Amino acid sequence: MATTDVNSSDSQRERAPVRLRLRPTMQSDLEFVLSLEQDDANLPFITPWDRVQHEGAIRFPDFRHFIIEGGVGLDAVGFMILIGCRSRHQSLELKRMVVRDKGQGYGRAALRMTKKVAFDDLGAHRLWLDFKSHNTRARALYESEGFIVEGTLREAVRVAGGFDSLVVMSMLQPEFTARRGRALELHA
Ligand SMILES: CC(C)(COP(=O)(O)OP(=O)(O)OC[C@H]1O[C@@H](n2cnc3c(N)ncnc32)[C@H](O)[C@@H]1OP(=O)(O)O)[C@@H](O)C(=O)NCCC(=O)NCCS
Repeated sequence: MATTDVNSSDSQRERAPVRLRLRPTMQSDLEFVLSLEQDDANLPFITPWDRVQHEGAIRFPDFRHFIIEGGVGLDAVGFMILIGCRSRHQSLELKRMVVRDKGQGYGRAALRMTKKVAFDDLGAHRLWLDFKSHNTRARALYESEGFIVEGTLREAVRVAGGFDSLVVMSMLQPEFTARRGRALELHA
């Protein structure tokens, strides 16, 4: 997959373009993926999978499992999973995105590339996602990247000490095209 320098200078903070690439996850990447999921910095925001689930996501045609490579050396900096890639409804879910080195623009750059893959390459009509309602960083990112809140699944996830609610957001293909017309998305 092509490398892209994503300029996030339209966001709140001025940043140099982030060099980023997505590549398909391989079996040999799974230790990295599993360790990121188990990291205390990420666990509160996700429901981690076991190795078998990730192996399935690498293999099943309906899934796309990517390693996010970034920085000067294009080292592995995270991973991202898309589901519903064969959906007849053209409704794809950004199931998970985790970035190790947070706050450096990799998340925004990876999200822009994810939208391009979903709408340009996989023919999505709708790209949706959910996040835990206390995940203010994810909310800020998704809102500023044009996703629209659809609603809240109240107390949908069992966690230690109670339940977390999930906020559902989406973007439709015409919305993506309109944003691209305003130079807010990567070029086709
Ligand atoms: C959510 C996540 C993918 C974002 O990636 P990131 O590389 O940290 O994010 P970026 O550096 O690109 O920042 C994107 C925006 O997030 C917001 N943000 C970043 N750090 C933040 C913080 N500490 N608090 C609140 N908002 C924050 C800002 O709006 C930021 O935009 P700006 O700095 O350009 O104005 C990453 O933090 C992560 O892996 N978190 C844990 C797992 C997770 O929550 N995944 C998403 C749900 S599955």
